[in-house]
Amino acid sequence: MDFDFTFTNFPRFETERFILRKAVEKDCHDIFVLYSNEQVTRYTPLTPFKSINDAKNELNWYDTILREQTGFRWVIEEAESKKVIGTCGFLNYKKEHNRIEIGYDLNPSYWGKGVMKEAISCIISFAFLTMKMNKIEAKVEPENQSSIRLLEKLNFYKEGVLRQHEFENGKYVDLAIFSILRREFE
Ligand SMILES: CC(C)(COP(=O)(O)OP(=O)(O)OC[C@H]1O[C@@H](n2cnc3c(N)ncnc32)[C@H](O)[C@@H]1OP(=O)(O)O)[C@@H](O)C(=O)NCCC(=O)NCCS
Repeated sequence: MDFDFTFTNFPRFETERFILRKAVEKDCHDIFVLYSNEQVTRYTPLTPFKSINDAKNELNWYDTILREQTGFRWVIEEAESKKVIGTCGFLNYKKEHNRIEIGYDLNPSYWGKGVMKEAISCIISFAFLTMKMNKIEAKVEPENQSSIRLLEKLNFYKEGVLRQHEFENGKYVDLAIFSILRREFE
């Protein structure tokens, strides 16, 4: 593939209900609220945030992956309320393989309303159509039914389970690998 994608301009998207944009410092409060909630961090490598400084570090990580050209992380702003209610994005970009990994987290008050389906449908299209990715993968703890349901709804295919793949919060966790290929994306 001769297309050479570079992470120069941070893309901004508008969906029916949300704005997906780059995080700015004033988002720290909403990011803190999101990631201080144990329901959100339960199936992630994160421990619940304890202070606004943890939120600042998270935003620094968003800047780092952009600078290193390995990913984008968008904040999901509810257009009506202007509140940041979640985040989604890509990480672990493998340029030589045209492959990238997706991640997402949402404030529990908004679960089950199709928010993340709407948000990540948009960035999946961007990955295939603009970034020209061949494969998007997702790593999910097998108990995380909501996340698995979301991926299945978006036609991700389960490849298998990496056993005790990571040591998170004092224990080894399995990670199920899901993916969608360019040829499966319509
Ligand atoms: C995973 C997560 C982002 C899902 O977000 P969401 O906005 O609630 O998901 P959606 O409402 O878009 O759901 C997509 C589909 O899955 C279904 N679904 C969502 N949660 C479900 C659940 N708990 N049980 C059954 N189905 C569920 C929805 O009904 C929807 O299907 P539909 O379009 O037919 O209605 C959210 O639960 C979350 O932030 N969890 C904590 C953080 C996390 O686990 N991140 C991912 C780590 S891998």
